Amino acid sequence: MPQTDFLVIGSGIAGLTFAVKTAQQFPDKTITILTKAYADETNTKYAQGGIAVVNDDEHDSFDKHISDTLIAGDGLCNEDIVRAVVTEGRDRVDEIINWGTNFDKDTDGEYLRGKEGGHSEFRILHFKDITGFEIERSLLAEAAKYPNIVMNNHWFVVDIITQHHLGYLVSKSTVGIECYGVYVLNMQSGEIEQLLAKLTLMASGGCGQVYRTTTNPRIATGDGIAMVYRAKGRIENMEFIQFHPTALYEAGVSPSFLITEAVRGDGGILRNKEGEAFMERYDPRKDLAPRDIVARAIDSEMKRTGTEHVYLDCRHMDKEKFLHHFPNIYERCLKSGIDALTQLIPVAPAAHYSCGGIKVDEYGRTSIRNLYACGECSSTGLHGANRLASNSLLEALVFAHRCHEDSSRAIGSIGFREGIPEWDAAGTTKPKEMILITQSLKELQSVMSDYVGIVRNDVRLARAMRRLDLLHEETERLYEASTLSPQLAELRNLITIGYLIVKGAQFRKESRGLHFNTDYPQHSRRIENIVL
Ligand code: FAD
Ligand code: SIN
Repeated sequence: MPQTDFLVIGSGIAGLTFAVKTAQQFPDKTITILTKAYADETNTKYAQGGIAVVNDDEHDSFDKHISDTLIAGDGLCNEDIVRAVVTEGRDRVDEIINWGTNFDKDTDGEYLRGKEGGHSEFRILHFKDITGFEIERSLLAEAAKYPNIVMNNHWFVVDIITQHHLGYLVSKSTVGIECYGVYVLNMQSGEIEQLLAKLTLMASGGCGQVYRTTTNPRIATGDGIAMVYRAKGRIENMEFIQFHPTALYEAGVSPSFLITEAVRGDGGILRNKEGEAFMERYDPRKDLAPRDIVARAIDSEMKRTGTEHVYLDCRHMDKEKFLHHFPNIYERCLKSGIDALTQLIPVAPAAHYSCGGIKVDEYGRTSIRNLYACGECSSTGLHGANRLASNSLLEALVFAHRCHEDSSRAIGSIGFREGIPEWDAAGTTKPKEMILITQSLKELQSVMSDYVGIVRNDVRLARAMRRLDLLHEETERLYEASTLSPQLAELRNLITIGYLIVKGAQFRKESRGLHFNTDYPQHSRRIENIVL
């Protein structure tokens, strides 16, 4: 029976940071990383703007960063967590710099700092416009130095193993559940195997693929969140899906290429079809208002003018500075026939980030014993109803550290569970028509985009739920009868994600942050997290 001391699901910033720290502390213990694609194919790799982090000196203060985060979060952040992430962030970023991550510096060797929506200061460390690529590169290189880290690419985790698999239910409640490891599909052999672990970290990233238009790569199918929900773990605030205001508009191209908010931080201006710089009609912070406000303003302009996009105007920006900070964006736009320095860039909002997720405490502990979660799949209380730009990478670093510290204390008293049954594939056969899966995915993405997008109402949400019920029923039938494939597993997971988003949205009888319901346009007086 394959076993590992620590099991890490995911090789983005969250999983790799945890793995490296744990490998350093326990050279005699094994840390197994499972990842369903190539190790570097993660949301992390595509991060552009950078990491928001402050030194608390004469230029900027912890208090300002905390205040900006709380304002963006629209009353729903956990202030203790915000303070912890902001104040511990500096040390965590220093650690990855020591492991070899590069951030841009000026000619005096000082770090260059960018600005994005909702930030009152220039505080975002970046590596050109490919910060995530640089972080992923350096963390993978660091992880490769430790012989006790075993990296398994193309292993698709299907489910976490709990008492439910031992043939008895704990109860219908969510209390007392334990995690013993995972069932995982070896994508080379097609077999589903079990991997037992003393401690498991879920670091499986986001779920942008539940929408038709997203900045997230194909791996972002919410698998970890869906698995934990199936295992009766607690999930919260899934209605807060962040739409990034400025993805490059290209009909039929998926995923959408992001135009970082840092472009607006450096002076880029949003214009509508008539050429008007419309943001000043919506918010005094104009183009640098928090993302929920900018995305809603764009949505409203698109609806008013009957267009599929607005424009980002960079024509007035300093050429040399632009090319130095945004070389990748410039090249990518050129490939689509747009010279960003002489032409307007067509942009539209795209699903970008899940603010909610697996509910964790201040050490990243989920409601399931021996299961931690960090990174985008988790809900720590940092983001509240709307994440402040460039706080996600910071959160992943701080919580990977906290998960590592807590699990290091716990590991000594945990053993391996025996008597776990093999995966039961009896009665299943290869699906005859893959098209059933791909069509259902398209339907799901359409339902979510058309009825559960930036602006919602009760009728649309009810309609979405009915469509999801049908998709769920059909997909469960397929699942019962078919040999499991990653495509089918992802479809199931995405339907669960859709359900969690719609359910959260239906429970939230107010508009707050990223959740805007025209039937309840105001804040409710009760400020609450929606836990499912
Ligand atoms: P990821 O980096 O997404 O890694 C997830 C891992 O889990 C992958 O290895 C995947 O293969 C694995 N996995 C998933 N499911 C399974 C499964 N079933 N079995 C096995 N493995 C599985 N944030 C910022 O703070 N600053 C930015 O500038 C920024 N820019 C962004 C730009 C883009 C285009 C995008 C998409 C996001 C951006 N974000 C940014 C958000 C940020 O990049 C992510 O939230 C963060 O990188 C998530 O890291 P993670 O480690 O949690 O997950
Ligand atoms: C961006 O660069 O605009 C994305 C930053 C983020 O998602 O935090």
